[in-house]
Amino acid sequence: DVPLNPAVLPLDWLLGSWESDEPGEGSFPTIPPFRYTETLHFSHVGQPAINFTFNAYHSETKKPLHRECGFIRIQPGTNRAAFIIAQNSGLVEIEEGELSGHQLSLQSQALARMSFAKEPHVQQICRLFQLRADGKLEQTVSMATGDQPLTQHLHITYRRSS
Ligand code: HEM
Repeated sequence: DVPLNPAVLPLDWLLGSWESDEPGEGSFPTIPPFRYTETLHFSHVGQPAINFTFNAYHSETKKPLHRECGFIRIQPGTNRAAFIIAQNSGLVEIEEGELSGHQLSLQSQALARMSFAKEPHVQQICRLFQLRADGKLEQTVSMATGDQPLTQHLHITYRRSS
């Protein structure tokens, strides 16, 4: 195995696979609340980046739903983190924010989408990853769309699966 690049050592607590502990909770003022399961994989190839894939499923039918993949970078010598993300909905984004200990707090810096992406279009995304003292990982996502101010869309807790 290649050694982890020192540039991303502060993110070593994310590496490996995670599986939702109990179904995540989805919400937004314009949609009925829903439940979902999700698996996360964080890996590296020795570059100063973490590679990730997030795959979400319908909690009962197990049908694949939302998917994201991308890279995480850290600005050398700082606690500034950047996520470079592609989503199956046709959205691409850059999120940036602060890494403090086992917590990553991110805000969208750039959003772009394919011309025929479904409306409403997301205008802003805020995300929080937190490794809890009990070893579980938590993700919270809020978003603003053309019609709604910044509101929580997702909350989920994962346990390590490898
Ligand atoms: C709806 C964005 C992640 C499941 C939506 C809507 C947007 C959106 C803009 C439409 C809201 C409206 O109609 O007013 C996003 C973004 C995500 C994300 C930006 C990631 C950063 C997820 C994940 C799931 C999910 C992980 C898990 C299954 C849904 C469902 C709906 C929805 C079920 C309602 C039905 C639909 O419009 O397809 N999302 N979403 N989303 N999202 Fe997400």
